[in-house]
Amino acid sequence: MQHIFYKGTDETKPTLLLLHGTGGNEESLIGLAKEIDETANILSVRGNVLEHGMPRFFRRLAEGVFDIEDLIFRTKELYGFLQEAAQQYGFDRQRIVAIGYSNGANIAASLLFHYDDALAGAILHHPMVPRRGIELPQLSSIPVFIGAGTNDPMCTAQESEDLETLLTSAGAKVTTKWFDFGHQLTIPEVHAAKEWYNSIYA
Ligand code: MLT
Repeated sequence: MQHIFYKGTDETKPTLLLLHGTGGNEESLIGLAKEIDETANILSVRGNVLEHGMPRFFRRLAEGVFDIEDLIFRTKELYGFLQEAAQQYGFDRQRIVAIGYSNGANIAASLLFHYDDALAGAILHHPMVPRRGIELPQLSSIPVFIGAGTNDPMCTAQESEDLETLLTSAGAKVTTKWFDFGHQLTIPEVHAAKEWYNSIYA
């Protein structure tokens, strides 16, 4: 998968896996990652699907309606890529913390829904429930931050609440923060994510 890897300066930190929103690329979230932790390794990946020229991590049939077969295939593809990247760059495969926005948050959530060892933690900015009606793996105490907008037309409050419930039932330690905005990622949300991250990894 097309990607950027930056080696961090502090080996005790996890590797930050950056997953952009629709129309973004591997450059989009670098500034965000540096804001969260400028000393950690960064692995930033570009989604392999194009929708009218816009990169995404999996196909959708309509806004908010996912192509589940493709979601499963792309989730597996990303899972395999993480293994390869860990070997290539020599970072700890067991210590990857995803930072995803929108479509990128959805594929990060899909990694959690399908594998018990894909991620050591996740910051999900404006995620949805990637898939319904499946049993989740044991996510024993995996820390997850959800940033949600009370007026987000794409990811409704119900989606965020359902995602929190599903992840918590699987054993994840979920912290959800609400902001009186829409789908955009705002400075107060980034600050809340950073505070959450520091409480666990600093
Ligand atoms: C998705 O398709 O993953 C969501 O609707 C969010 C987005 O458009 O990126």
